[in-house]
Amino acid sequence: MLDVSNLSVRFGDAYALRDASLTVHPGDRIGVVGESGSGKSMLAQALMGMVPESASMSGILKIDGTEMTRATEAQWRALRARRVAMIFQEPLAALNPLRRVGTTVMEPLRTHLGLSRTQARARTLDLFEEVGLPDPEQRLAAYPHELSGGQRQRVLIALALACDPKLLIADEPTTALDAEVAQRITDLLVRLSRDRAMALMIISHDLQVVARATRQLLVMYGGDIVERGETRKILSAPFHPYTRGLLAARPRPQLARPVPGTKRPRLPTIPGHIPALVDLPAGCRFSGRCPAELSRCRTTRSTEFRTGTGLAACHLLNPAERSKS
Ligand SMILES: Nc1ncnc2c1ncn2[C@@H]1O[C@H](COP(=O)(O)OP(=O)(O)OP(=O)(O)O)[C@@H](O)[C@H]1O
Ligand SMILES: [Mg+2]
Repeated sequence: MLDVSNLSVRFGDAYALRDASLTVHPGDRIGVVGESGSGKSMLAQALMGMVPESASMSGILKIDGTEMTRATEAQWRALRARRVAMIFQEPLAALNPLRRVGTTVMEPLRTHLGLSRTQARARTLDLFEEVGLPDPEQRLAAYPHELSGGQRQRVLIALALACDPKLLIADEPTTALDAEVAQRITDLLVRLSRDRAMALMIISHDLQVVARATRQLLVMYGGDIVERGETRKILSAPFHPYTRGLLAARPRPQLARPVPGTKRPRLPTIPGHIPALVDLPAGCRFSGRCPAELSRCRTTRSTEFRTGTGLAACHLLNPAERSKS
């Protein structure tokens, strides 16, 4: 349903996303991980046709067979919500504080699906029920500040589901929540994906969230997808030096165990700092920080090679390189 090849997003000469290729099928559950600034949100925004105006997009993005890279805003509006919907990274900013949450969810049902007020209200109640909001009737009239963080996230999920999307992208859906609520929201997303045969893409710093919720994993760094494959396999046997660094830096399980009332620890970063977009090396983005770097890494990008658990873009996997050493 989604066919992406060599999708790039540029600000001038700086790539925030470089040649991303992926295919999404109904019911797929894909995790996207990487340090801050690695291009995760940019990938999501590109798939939604919502890149900043100052950016230029290139490559191929086919949604249900229609090429969308050069689509107009009107074409996107017709497709968004019904095909691809998103839960944004800032849960509070996404809800209008002056509007009752019921009204917010009813709006797309009326404008996109042409439902009457009564129909939209009934449908919103169903959605609130589906996402596990307690007392849906009462919640319709609530303002965002009257709800807990978890409940607000459930409202946003209901809103994203309103037009029955085929792909739901959740950008850091649990970051603002404490550990227990985070787990329940994660499980809700998985259940919705199963019940609706809806593809799910979860962007997260939290490896426990992607481990729990997703079957495939994309690892991003510097705007590139550097490794991909089955989530479980990559987490237990990462290949790319970047992925290894990311996993080595993860909090130990006893530290990460949910403690009620606490935020989950964010993933610490790998030694070295992430260069600004314009200073990224032209070749492998991770060169300069990579402990296993070869001479050609800074200048030449590697194609993807099989790792045994999936694919990684790394010269270390190139048979020609291996025969040299
Ligand atoms: N409007 C913009 N103008 C210029 N650069 C931008 C703009 N928006 C994002 N970028 C750059 O694009 C790169 C990728 O950003 P992106 O938001 O996708 O990162 P991310 O992986 O989602 O990080 P985080 O985990 O912090 O959310 C970053 O280097 C960022 O500074
Ligand atoms: Mg982001």
